Amino acid sequence: MARPLRVGLAILLALASSTGVNAAKCYQYLSQQDYPTCLQLDSNLVLHYRTVMDDGVETLELAPDGDGYMSWVSIGISDVGMNGVDMNVIIRATEGYNWIAADYFTANYSMPMLDMEQNAVLVASPDFDKDNHTLAIWRRPLDSCDAEDVPVFRDVERTIIWAYNYRSIWDTDKFYLSHYTRGVMTGVRLSPSGLLSSNVTTASGGAVSVSSLRPPPAPRGRWNVSMPPAPAPPPPAPAEVRMNLTVAMPAFAVPQLNSSVACVNLALPNDTAYHVVAYQGFNTSSYVHHIVGYVCAAGVVPPTLNTPYMCGPGQTVLPVGCETVNYVWTPGANGFTAPPQAGFAMGAGSATFLVLQVHYLNVFAVGQVDSSGLKLTYTSTLRNNSMGVLTLGNTDLRIPAAADFYTALPNICPASCTSKRVVAPVTLVSNFYMMNGLGVSALTRHIRNGSAIQPVGRINYWDYGYNLYQTVFPNSRTLLANDTLISLCSYNSTSRTRAMTFYGLRPTDELCFNYLTFYPVSAMPDLDYCVADTRKNITTCATRTQLARMTAVGANDTVQLQNGTKMAVGTLTIAAYKSNECQLHDAVDVTAKRKPNTKAAVSSIIVVPLVLLSIGFFLWTKYSKQEEMEALLAKAREQGLDAALAEIPE
Ligand SMILES: *[C@@H]1O[C@H](CO)[C@@H](O)[C@H](O)[C@H]1NC(C)=O
Ligand SMILES: *[C@@H]1O[C@H](CO)[C@@H](O)[C@H](O)[C@H]1NC(C)=O
Ligand SMILES: *[C@@H]1O[C@H](CO)[C@@H](O)[C@H](O)[C@H]1NC(C)=O
Ligand SMILES: *[C@@H]1O[C@H](CO)[C@@H](O)[C@H](O)[C@H]1NC(C)=O
Ligand SMILES: *[C@@H]1O[C@H](CO)[C@@H](O)[C@H](O)[C@H]1NC(C)=O
Ligand SMILES: *[C@@H]1O[C@H](CO)[C@@H](O)[C@H](O)[C@H]1NC(C)=O
Ligand SMILES: *[C@@H]1O[C@H](CO)[C@@H](O)[C@H](O)[C@H]1NC(C)=O
Ligand SMILES: *[C@@H]1O[C@H](CO)[C@@H](O)[C@H](O)[C@H]1NC(C)=O
Ligand SMILES: *[C@@H]1O[C@H](CO)[C@@H](O)[C@H](O)[C@H]1NC(C)=O
Ligand SMILES: *[C@@H]1O[C@H](CO)[C@@H](O)[C@H](O)[C@H]1NC(C)=O
Ligand SMILES: *[C@@H]1O[C@H](CO)[C@@H](O)[C@H](O)[C@H]1NC(C)=O
Ligand SMILES: *[C@@H]1O[C@H](CO)[C@@H](O)[C@H](O)[C@H]1NC(C)=O
Repeated sequence: MARPLRVGLAILLALASSTGVNAAKCYQYLSQQDYPTCLQLDSNLVLHYRTVMDDGVETLELAPDGDGYMSWVSIGISDVGMNGVDMNVIIRATEGYNWIAADYFTANYSMPMLDMEQNAVLVASPDFDKDNHTLAIWRRPLDSCDAEDVPVFRDVERTIIWAYNYRSIWDTDKFYLSHYTRGVMTGVRLSPSGLLSSNVTTASGGAVSVSSLRPPPAPRGRWNVSMPPAPAPPPPAPAEVRMNLTVAMPAFAVPQLNSSVACVNLALPNDTAYHVVAYQGFNTSSYVHHIVGYVCAAGVVPPTLNTPYMCGPGQTVLPVGCETVNYVWTPGANGFTAPPQAGFAMGAGSATFLVLQVHYLNVFAVGQVDSSGLKLTYTSTLRNNSMGVLTLGNTDLRIPAAADFYTALPNICPASCTSKRVVAPVTLVSNFYMMNGLGVSALTRHIRNGSAIQPVGRINYWDYGYNLYQTVFPNSRTLLANDTLISLCSYNSTSRTRAMTFYGLRPTDELCFNYLTFYPVSAMPDLDYCVADTRKNITTCATRTQLARMTAVGANDTVQLQNGTKMAVGTLTIAAYKSNECQLHDAVDVTAKRKPNTKAAVSSIIVVPLVLLSIGFFLWTKYSKQEEMEALLAKAREQGLDAALAEIPE
């Protein structure tokens, strides 16, 4: 990346003002013409940025402006959270001399290590010392192909971690991460589409949430709420009037148990049709592990409203017809904002009731009264598409004790499922991963015609307590019939020295889900739950409502249902597509890579052998009465699953 500096920007001199008084401000020294986007990181530091072509390489140009004479400034980029941070540091090696730019990486909340491959290039370091200001401009490729760099994709959120110091030098500071000023901002779109050499306003780029930097990680297995301020929804279309609705627990006395799941049935507006265009956590307490909002189908009225009831495993099941997940939130998550062309249907003609489910981890709760919930932002200006949530995941986790890095068997949502259920191209919007405290990385691969295309999403360094609605990666935003989705979760169980960890809802259990939002629902009406029980070679390929209907039919035995065709379980060869954006740099196997890999560059086509359980079409339920299921199975063998399903009474 070393190439001559070409500085094509106007540095404004006029505004330089008296020293020591002004905190840093956007566009004090740089123009909005040059940098359409700028973030106020803290009162002493702003960050201007833009995407520019540099010798045919798309680069991200970072231009922080600090108040005061700083000795070094670091702008880090991560998937989300404080782990796996690609740090670009500008260092004033000796007072009075120019800046040098350096590329670091930290994988463990610990000392940053100098990357083997240096990808930060200083563009300019205008001297504003006399103004008591610090300004530097540097570039890094959007995707450098270096596994120690975090790639920046169009329209995909990244987290910014910044740090700086006034007197002390970097070489000393980097050993003592707590000694200097720093912060973190999640949900930043560093490369909003259209930003490349065009005139875009701040609104389409900027941060959606800010929070102060947390100290090094909380003890694993404990949840804490560090809810950042509300996200800024995109500018409303003209005449789109937005209203807020809170759906929350009515002052619920949480049982004094380590883990409990409570539900409450709530009424939604029903006077006309609405779209929910954004949502976020509301009044969430530190006892909340996650919140799910299930909507009831049109015309379904749940029994008792506004009275919480326990709805965990073995307790009251959700009201029949109220199984469709629309809203999911976990601590640390920013808010969800729908794309301008879609929203979740609510009101007349769709969902007029909602079941709010809150999972509490309340080891330390004594007499806790909770009113956690969600704030839904909705409009009666209907959008063109209604959104849904496709749950991908694995309910058969067996994580060995004391494993440094263990990848659970993949959840495969097979081609044989999508080929039946995807009736028109589906637009994938965002990923939302859910793991417990042992989680270290998550990845959802996208396979088309035997080749891996860009992943739907990934977090290489999961940071417990930070989460985000991660926009689906740009080249993977369409789901077609016959596509396969493979989700992988990896764990670090070194803290569990003796016992194996299983799937479950207790704090000591683990989870592996990706709640993938999509639109339109009409393109995939019969699929919202594609979850594997891998060792049984079964993946559900249905909606939760269909599964609940199966459950209602009765019984306890696990049943595999197949349409009669015996499909070979074989080896599927996945040829990674050779991407000039290098985002498959770890495609030599399907597990997410965490350890920095200085030999990152990947040559030619990568062939990935994977035992894909290409098992055809199965429907699975844990609780089904044997004879009835046998009958269904027979019917399905004769006439196909859909015919069998049609027999189940509504
Ligand atoms: C320069 O700015 C820093 C940070 O705002 C302030 O602490 C310091 O007093 C200023 N120095 C001068 C000479 O104004
Ligand atoms: C953090 O990671 C670096 C390089 O990956 C390693 O050298 C260092 O020892 C690690 N520190 C800890 C505390 O694990
Ligand atoms: C950029 O947008 C601003 C504000 O809308 C406008 O004043 C300016 O003329 C635009 N510049 C260009 C180059 O289009
Ligand atoms: C949880 O958050 C509170 C308030 O922000 C903070 O005081 C506490 O230290 C946090 N606990 C953990 C374990 O991070
Ligand atoms: C709705 O909530 C959002 C997010 O907190 C807020 O920005 C907005 O002002 C609220 N709108 C109304 C009409 O209250
Ligand atoms: C509840 O949590 C505490 C602390 O983690 C633990 O010691 C205790 O065994 C747990 N109780 C149950 C019933 O799981
Ligand atoms: C519509 O909402 C109103 C107010 O909550 C309620 O009284 C009415 O019963 C609802 N109608 C239906 C059909 O659910
Ligand atoms: C797993 O966790 C342990 C303890 O927190 C840590 O020392 C180790 O580096 C982690 N392993 C990986 C691969 O991150
Ligand atoms: C579905 O994908 C498989 C490879 O995964 C391919 O062999 C097959 O031809 C595809 N079928 C259709 C109908 O596209
Ligand atoms: C699942 O498939 C694997 C691979 O073919 C096979 O070894 C295993 O026995 C199957 N398990 C079940 C429960 O059918
Ligand atoms: C499931 O099994 C238990 C114990 O064998 C039995 O009591 C219960 O009735 C069964 N449930 C159904 C729905 O058949
Ligand atoms: C069963 O499903 C498979 C895959 O969808 C299909 O190829 C096959 O023709 C079906 N068989 C019957 C008997 O319907």
